[in-house]
Amino acid sequence: MIYTITFNPAIDYVLHASEVKAGNINRADREEIYFGGKGINVSLMLRELGVQSIALGFAAGFTGTAIEDGLSLAGIKTDFVHLKSGFTRINVKIKTNAETDINGRGPNIPKDAVDELMYKLNALKDGDTVVLAGSIPKSLPDNIYEKILEEISDRRVKAVVDAEKDLLLNTLKYKPFLVKPNKFELGEMFGAELHTNEEIALYAEKLREMGARNVLVSMAGDGALLIDENGKTHICGACRGEVKNSVGAGDSMVAGFIAGSINGDYEYALKLGAAAGGATAFSEGLAKKKEILALVNKL
Ligand SMILES: Nc1ncnc2c1ncn2[C@@H]1O[C@H](COP(=O)(O)OP(=O)(O)OP(=O)(O)O)[C@@H](O)[C@H]1O
Ligand SMILES: [Mg+2]
Repeated sequence: MIYTITFNPAIDYVLHASEVKAGNINRADREEIYFGGKGINVSLMLRELGVQSIALGFAAGFTGTAIEDGLSLAGIKTDFVHLKSGFTRINVKIKTNAETDINGRGPNIPKDAVDELMYKLNALKDGDTVVLAGSIPKSLPDNIYEKILEEISDRRVKAVVDAEKDLLLNTLKYKPFLVKPNKFELGEMFGAELHTNEEIALYAEKLREMGARNVLVSMAGDGALLIDENGKTHICGACRGEVKNSVGAGDSMVAGFIAGSINGDYEYALKLGAAAGGATAFSEGLAKKKEILALVNKL
């Protein structure tokens, strides 16, 4: 089974308006609601690709319930820790010709809730996958990724880590199955500015030497580079299309790679990841399977 963990899920409330004036009552032309948080995005995209996962994390209040109901309607199993106070955040995204976002802070996560999450990790077995993606809310210890990986280190669980700086670097000692920085995040980890594929491959290889089994570096509109666990470098160009909203492209790529690597074919995993990321960049929300498969065939 694949488990995703979302510490700070969100409901994205997207408002489209032709004009917005600060201090006025403005009217939207249309609105949409999406469920978000990186782990949840990965679960949604896995489901789209026909792969089951269980979404773990913290949920609170009626907004937390709405996310759980929505995920279950989408066919995703959930096993969230329910917080006794606060509510799962709502992120407001105002789209005019520019985009203005106000992201909620999210509920406070007390220590006993963290213990409850750790307890849920007992369900993970040899061969399972766990996805750790995104930043850590202020109320959680900043070594929570390491604590989780320590907790499951007695089993052969494939960890997938999509995070910045030390948050990712500190997990390498647990030999994660996959790490997915984008090229800026990779540069930032080593205090370097990366431009060419050679430079990117050099630093991706450093992450592999430090413990990561597969290193996938996403490069937005320039595609992606993978150094797989056999030390082979694969380069994949980007798909072509009109960018609508690239939020979630990275999460889609992670899901595509996981789904594509089930048979150990990393060349295909990279392609499915790039196609899922690209198709999401070309959609308002996360991409649909049909759009993704159409792009895979063109890569
Ligand atoms: N504009 C684009 N055109 C084509 N493909 C894209 C585009 N943006 C993203 N992709 C695809 O999606 C993958 C992931 O995108 P990106 O590098 O932006 O991830 P990211 O920076 O982690 O994004 P985020 O964390 O915001 O979801 C890229 O490697 C690429 O294959
Ligand atoms: Mg990212």
